[in-house]
Amino acid sequence: MYDNDNTVKASFDLSYITEYLQQAQWAELIELKKVITRLYKQKQAPIRIFDIGIGNARVPKHLSLIHEIWEMVEVYDGIDNAEACVTLSTAAAKELQITDKVTATLFDAIKLNEWPQKYDLVLCTWFTPGNFYPDGFDFKHYMKDGKRLSLEQNPNFVKVFKGAYQLLNDGGELVLGATYIHNDATRIKQEEAYTKMGMHIITDKQDSFTATKEGFWSQRFTNEQLMRYLSFAPGQNIHFIPLDTYEYAQQVLIKK
Ligand SMILES: C[S@@+](CC[C@H](N)C(=O)[O-])C[C@H]1O[C@@H](n2cnc3c(N)ncnc32)[C@H](O)[C@@H]1O
Repeated sequence: MYDNDNTVKASFDLSYITEYLQQAQWAELIELKKVITRLYKQKQAPIRIFDIGIGNARVPKHLSLIHEIWEMVEVYDGIDNAEACVTLSTAAAKELQITDKVTATLFDAIKLNEWPQKYDLVLCTWFTPGNFYPDGFDFKHYMKDGKRLSLEQNPNFVKVFKGAYQLLNDGGELVLGATYIHNDATRIKQEEAYTKMGMHIITDKQDSFTATKEGFWSQRFTNEQLMRYLSFAPGQNIHFIPLDTYEYAQQVLIKK
């Protein structure tokens, strides 16, 4: 979905991005800095970070511009399954002169169980955890036959994050942040955001995800659903951190 140049541009261009989405970026970044600092202190050495869906390298860009935080980072490896995003991220890292720590690789998160290295922190930021949709989802004909998608289970979400959890060193953390909280007000905000980017919504209020004709797909989550999906990790290791006061976005921390 991120391989169409115009859509990629709109989805990363702040003039197309709603205030809700922009503030969620900053809120999750503040929480991320706390996690990096905690892990650095725990390890007493710079930490290794892995980013699922690095996009345009927005997160390493902002982290690298804060000297105190960037010193705590040894390696920042990112993957993306869209070539356009790998190109954008590689160019951004060169421009910022952070290629000594940052890499961007074309790789599908569904195969994370095959990734060869381990990390102290695995990230999946800015609503990307809601992008992993069930195989065969039909963007052209969704709901034409009146059949809706139940997300009681989402095997692709589980496969991605089970793989991600396995990449963690002991004591490491998997951070899903931000994720959408499932409620009607959030759905309306998602629909407004996609419409602002020039897309066409194909879902409605009976769905727990929002999708567009252009191939964008984004799930909202209840905490019960997340606990069920993440049952490969001990329940007491899963923590929910609100990113606002209006039940739009939250960060999910999963400790190993
Ligand atoms: C909402 S953007 C977030 C970009 C970036 N993480 C940020 O916070 O600005 C989602 C990113 O995840 C990537 N992505 C979606 N599905 C993926 C998959 N299966 N494997 C790897 N990357 C994926 C997209 O190409 C896109 O770059």
